[in-house]
Amino acid sequence: MSLNVFWFIPTHGDSRYLGTSKGARSVDADYLRQVAVAADTLGYDGVLLPTGRSCEDAWVVASSLMAVTHKLKFLVAIRPGLSTPGLAVRMASTFDRLSNGRLLINVVTGGDQGELEADGLFADHSKRYEISDEFFRIWRATMAGEGGAAGYDFEGRHLQVKGAKTLYPPVQKPYPPLYFGGSSEPAHELAAEQMDVYLTWGEPPAAVAEKLADIRARAARHGRTLRFGIRLHVIVRETNEAAWRAADELISDLDDDVIAKAQAAFAKMDSVGQRRMAALHGGRRDKLEVSPNLWAGVGLVRGGAGTALVGDAETVAARMQEYADLGIETFILSGYPHLEESYRFAELVFPLLGKGKQAGEQSITGPFGEMMASDILPKKAA
Ligand SMILES: Cc1cc2nc3c(=O)[nH]c(=O)nc-3n(C[C@H](O)[C@H](O)[C@H](O)COP(=O)(O)O)c2cc1C
Repeated sequence: MSLNVFWFIPTHGDSRYLGTSKGARSVDADYLRQVAVAADTLGYDGVLLPTGRSCEDAWVVASSLMAVTHKLKFLVAIRPGLSTPGLAVRMASTFDRLSNGRLLINVVTGGDQGELEADGLFADHSKRYEISDEFFRIWRATMAGEGGAAGYDFEGRHLQVKGAKTLYPPVQKPYPPLYFGGSSEPAHELAAEQMDVYLTWGEPPAAVAEKLADIRARAARHGRTLRFGIRLHVIVRETNEAAWRAADELISDLDDDVIAKAQAAFAKMDSVGQRRMAALHGGRRDKLEVSPNLWAGVGLVRGGAGTALVGDAETVAARMQEYADLGIETFILSGYPHLEESYRFAELVFPLLGKGKQAGEQSITGPFGEMMASDILPKKAA
């Protein structure tokens, strides 16, 4: 199978254990660079950078990583309403030019009103989606050069521009692809009408199939088709037993009161997607395998993506294939700690996916393992 596999830049922290500072590491410029360079050299197709007040700013971090990577694409968020469409057009266009076409946009409408009000955006769930709809009509038209020399005019309920234009157009035409996640009705409608790639968090395959069918039907009504992606954590080891042990270890220092606090905070959000993630485990740690090899332990305390594929390489690849059979082309993965798990996943699973350098023939330029004596290559892996 030929899939796009992305990794994740952990700008809100990284650790060996959830919910404790034990095993935590400082996420500074050097570490972020290590994760990005690892993803690039291992052969991941791109990286997602999260956005929100709990993260370092995604545009600044991505810009700092552009020059130390070669092929890696950057999935960077635009939050409609927090900037103007014109500024967002310029930032995206400049990033795409300077990186030679390596920008992908993650459209984040947002699901936490308190966080957005702290940032200065006062809009409930439905108004936020109205703003997103207008924002991306303007953004796409401006990027595509609609309106010609006079520029593009738009007057909506929430947003207005006059003479909008892009003097330095993006490398990717008509604009860098728009990725988007959201599970509410207005989210599906926005995806169907304006987005290029619909992303879902890692729900069980049957639930994902339902979502994709709804998006496909809505898109068809607009005469459109979309591509699909999924956001999952991975805990992959050489055996299934070792992988499940690693899953247990990840939450071995996690206290119940920390889980309760995190779940109470998620319950205040108006994100339908977040509600669906929380419902998978209900805050309980005794029923975390919510579908074969799909473990909801991460979501006990982490917002957003809360499930991990757990198992040995063959098992994880087979579960990925189940999602691929539904139409998922892009897997946006992560695991703890992000540097080590990026290597584990690439070394163990990439060969099964036909991805990365591991898939190539053994040659003197590697990969081959450590040379023995003066010129004996290690035996070729089975
Ligand atoms: C793959 C993926 C990545 C997301 N990344 C972010 C993010 O970085 N920051 C954020 O605030 N929300 C993020 N979201 C949340 C959505 O953008 C959306 O705003 C939220 O789910 C509320 O929409 P809903 O009520 O339609 O589900 C992400 C969602 C998905 C599926």
